[in-house]
Amino acid sequence: MSNRTFTMIKPDAVKAGNIGNILQMINAGGFRIAAMKYTKISRQQAEKFYEVHAARPFYSELTEFMSSGPIVAAILEKENAVADFRKLIGATNPANAEEGTIRKRYAASIGENAVHGSDSDENAKIEGDFFFNGLEQF
Ligand code: CMP
Repeated sequence: MSNRTFTMIKPDAVKAGNIGNILQMINAGGFRIAAMKYTKISRQQAEKFYEVHAARPFYSELTEFMSSGPIVAAILEKENAVADFRKLIGATNPANAEEGTIRKRYAASIGENAVHGSDSDENAKIEGDFFFNGLEQF
């Protein structure tokens, strides 16, 4: 089990002014920030990042949205990081997210759901390396 996961604060949450609130919840959840940047990805980069979803009907909507404005990308460290972070963010669809989770508080819909969290150790490594080179990971 690896102790790192990857997250993005998505364009909807950035636009709504929730970067600080979400980082506060991440810190309160016991995660250490191992890498972080405020950036914006192109449509092409979003397509590459989410290429595992290329066959899904929402792929176009997803990649358009994720390239629509700035995001915060970060690598987070904690024991059992992937599973614990998924617990902290709540269900993909905020309508199903538990009280006290990031998506319950800050997400509007399944598409615009405030934050991304890696779904496995393997993907956490791939996704973190997509945004950060070795000199940017501490
Ligand atoms: P994320 O954790 O970033 O990983 C894939 C994303 O696809 C997911 O969050 C959702 O934002 C998005 N997604 C999943 N299902 C749907 C859907 N039915 N319609 C639109 N977007 C979706």
